[in-house]
Amino acid sequence: MAVSHTPITPALGALVQGVDLATITPEQFDACNEIWRRRHVLVFRGQQLTNAQFERFSSMLGELDPPPNQGAGRKSVPGHPNLYVVSNRKSAEGEPLGALGDGEAQWHTDMSYLERPPFASMLWSIELPQAGGDTCFASMPAALRTMPPAFVARLRKLSIKHDGTYDSGGNVRKGVVPNDDPTRSVGTIHPMVIAHPETGEPTLYLGRRRNAWIAGLPLEESERLLNIIWSYATADAVTLRHSWQLGDVVLWNNFTTMHRRDAFPPDQIRTLHRSQIKSRYPLSAAAREAA
Ligand SMILES: [Fe+2]
Repeated sequence: MAVSHTPITPALGALVQGVDLATITPEQFDACNEIWRRRHVLVFRGQQLTNAQFERFSSMLGELDPPPNQGAGRKSVPGHPNLYVVSNRKSAEGEPLGALGDGEAQWHTDMSYLERPPFASMLWSIELPQAGGDTCFASMPAALRTMPPAFVARLRKLSIKHDGTYDSGGNVRKGVVPNDDPTRSVGTIHPMVIAHPETGEPTLYLGRRRNAWIAGLPLEESERLLNIIWSYATADAVTLRHSWQLGDVVLWNNFTTMHRRDAFPPDQIRTLHRSQIKSRYPLSAAAREAA
């Protein structure tokens, strides 16, 4: 069966058909990769996988990144240290078995507070609530295209400090001291406009809005400008909403998209396994490409 796809919105996303990720071949992988370069988010429905098969497919994209340190610490899938559990399930002793709980996760890019953030992330649905918990994605190249050229020219000269204090659920990362002054908190400075390392397509690179700071600007001016940037970056026209079904696998490019999650009822369980793929491309090189 040939690999085919249907665009999800004009700005981003593709529903990929004709691929069983448990047995995906190198040729099918190349076809998916080609679609992914242009659409940034791929959705595969109805996948029946083992953790080993999910890890195998993830590894076809590159070396896996170990899970991050969240408010609940590092939560790996037992026996698969490179796979990460996103879940509100707790042990009999009340200890969280996964990360992120049941609340809303604000718009962000995964692990952008690192020097070398992962290039791709992938989620696979294991258990779902009856309602809520949708994941939304935003296309950063599309957001950039909607901005006036003079504004883009200004952004190309700026960098953002990506805060490493809080996770996307708003929790302080384990072992990190709370700090709400982004000029002094832990974090990493990345250029605001980079290029997709494989296609050269210019893209915004944003992280979490909380504690973000445009390096070198007075905080008030930075806040004003960041609010304008976020209004372009999260506008309906550049986003898509994914309502999860069991067996969905969703892959996204972490350099060209942001994502967020809706809250869901705390008395219901939502569990997804996540993999992340290390970048072969430092952001600094992607930024030079965009210059
Ligand atoms: Fe995330």
